Amino acid sequence: MSANNTPKLGTGGLLRGRFSEATDEFVEAFTASVTFDRRLYRQDIAGSVAHAQMLAKIGVITAVEADQIIQGLNTIESEIESGNFNWQIALEDVHMNIESRLIELIGNTGKKLHTGRSRNDQVATDIRLYLRDAIDQLDQLETELLKAIAGVAYQHTDTIMPGFTHLQAAQPITFGHHLMAWFEMLMRDRTRLRDCRKRVNQLPLGAAALAGTPFCPDRAFVAQMLGFDSVCENSLDAVSDRDFAIEFCACAALTLMHMSRWCEELVLWSSQQFDFVELPDRFCTGSSIMPQKKNPDVPELIRGKTGRVNGHLMALLTLMKSQPLAYNKDNQEDKEPLFDSIDTLHGCLTALIGLVPNINPNKSAMLDATLKGFTTATDLADYLVRKQVPFRDAHEMVGQAVQVAVAKGKPLDELTLAELNGQENGIITEDVYEVLSLQGSVAARNHFGGTAPEQVREAIARAMKRLES
Ligand code: ARG
Repeated sequence: MSANNTPKLGTGGLLRGRFSEATDEFVEAFTASVTFDRRLYRQDIAGSVAHAQMLAKIGVITAVEADQIIQGLNTIESEIESGNFNWQIALEDVHMNIESRLIELIGNTGKKLHTGRSRNDQVATDIRLYLRDAIDQLDQLETELLKAIAGVAYQHTDTIMPGFTHLQAAQPITFGHHLMAWFEMLMRDRTRLRDCRKRVNQLPLGAAALAGTPFCPDRAFVAQMLGFDSVCENSLDAVSDRDFAIEFCACAALTLMHMSRWCEELVLWSSQQFDFVELPDRFCTGSSIMPQKKNPDVPELIRGKTGRVNGHLMALLTLMKSQPLAYNKDNQEDKEPLFDSIDTLHGCLTALIGLVPNINPNKSAMLDATLKGFTTATDLADYLVRKQVPFRDAHEMVGQAVQVAVAKGKPLDELTLAELNGQENGIITEDVYEVLSLQGSVAARNHFGGTAPEQVREAIARAMKRLES
């Protein structure tokens, strides 16, 4: 037993029958994957249990032998979980480590487990099972984060802030509306992940090395045992396909891209220049030299981690590019990018679940910024349109009013009627000041998808319903 549970260089594998010399020590370590694929142990054991039951069902092994195998596998699972399993690099990967321990534990019966199976269909099955579980966990985290976003949005359906285009204050919106835009992005991510799961959840086992097996496995039975929705149609494709992993990494990359956008906003908003939000101290760190600093490290890190997940997607696409059918050892390289994409997405979702409910908006700074940016200029143009001025002429007129406001250093709603009217005297009347108010501006956008507080409340109610499915 290895005390610290790290894989050790050992002596020879089970697969050297046709060779006349032992594997080179460097090659042994170079080709091994057990350092990273051992995290598939639970799926590997579940797959082996189902395979053994199937072998008994079709009469290739006896029911007693299947029981012995299953008991041995259960023992191995406990050994691994209690840290008492001796992982060996010489045994290359998680599959051979478990199989050789099974043979050690139960003797010759253990040698029958690999009948009608190859590591090629075995590993493809393991990864799919692992990814399916990961997707289910990520789905739960995404749902939790979606609820958190909608929860904060609900508190701020009336909180005015500037909406931006080109990072310039554009039109007044509500903070709740802005947050619900985040919600929509993540909702699409959740839908995409659920769709990806359909193509993950198909059974490769039974394809064996590439061509199938003369034992005529009952693949439907194995699929049912392992909770797969269907069985991979073609044995060559079953062992060589990694589309599902690429698809997952694409989903993860899109999600991280979204998160990087939110995090960029949090970094900007929490800066002294914006001062829109206060991030909780426990999510920020200090500087080793500048005592005044409160750095938004968590959003910055999430923004940064987008790079590695994008990289993993590229790695997998490039890994699969030009590979001839069927299995090639290249495929062993699928695991680290996939695992790291899962872990990174998991970590970022967890961080945001903690952070989002604690974003504390500075309402007065948001309001000031909205007042400063002539953000109701479009409302003034729309007002003129209602007075029968064609939109292009209205646009021109308001442009001139903005020029006056800039020159006088005043917001639009502090200009006099004469100043607002310019040369077109008389069109703009007292009722314009209601239109120029920020509350009036957001309340006016009172339609499906608009920023009016009433609409945002309805959007949130619909969002909560959508989350139920
Ligand atoms: N460790 C291998 C992998 O991850 C398992 C499959 C090995 N198959 C083979 N024919 N060498 O892909």
